[in-house]
Amino acid sequence: MKITYLGHACISIETKDKTLLIDPFITGNELASEIDIDKLQADYILITHAHQDHILDVEAIANRTGAVIISNYEIVSHFENKGLKGHPMNHGGKWEFDFGTVHYTNAIHSSSFPDGTYGGQPGGFVIETSHHRLYIAGDTALTNDMKLIPEVIGELDLAILPVGDNFTMGIDEAIRASTFLNCNKVLGYHFDTFGYIKIDHKEAFEKFAKAKKELYLLSIGGHMKL
Ligand code: NI
Ligand code: MN
Repeated sequence: MKITYLGHACISIETKDKTLLIDPFITGNELASEIDIDKLQADYILITHAHQDHILDVEAIANRTGAVIISNYEIVSHFENKGLKGHPMNHGGKWEFDFGTVHYTNAIHSSSFPDGTYGGQPGGFVIETSHHRLYIAGDTALTNDMKLIPEVIGELDLAILPVGDNFTMGIDEAIRASTFLNCNKVLGYHFDTFGYIKIDHKEAFEKFAKAKKELYLLSIGGHMKL
């Protein structure tokens, strides 16, 4: 499984034969100017919530690729009304797709579309393939619900957690979340894009090391393998 960071909260996941794109926000991110959305592949686009910094490029990419949108009922309905394909889910539910199983998990945040209309309740995803299980938290505070994930779904290989603070949890809470999730390997996202969420990388790595946990912060376009 190849995991590529496309800036902000946008991640591309290549499984054996499918590509999943998470929360595409690229054309609005100056830091991601080297990423060309016309070249991105996607069989599925997973959306955690309706905020602009998670959905900006969904329509353009889904129109070109024919990708199926996986999100909560309200977000999927919104895009189906624009003629795109979708698979609606809601919290606590799981579905077996052709690449693996997706669980839609709880998040503590908000979720309105850029025009203010209701975007359902925000969420995150656990993605399970035959070899790997990873958690993408979405924008969220630290929540006790995270403890249920390893308990109910199973042991995680990687947790992708917001670390930018202000709108989501920050580094200290991400360390605590990693303990709740029983997963010491964390890929940080949702940081540095705007002034409110700029983080001190050195301090972040030091804090994780002190907690005997592994933090990954990828450069935009950079990848890791599971
Ligand atoms: Ni948000
Ligand atoms: Mn966000």
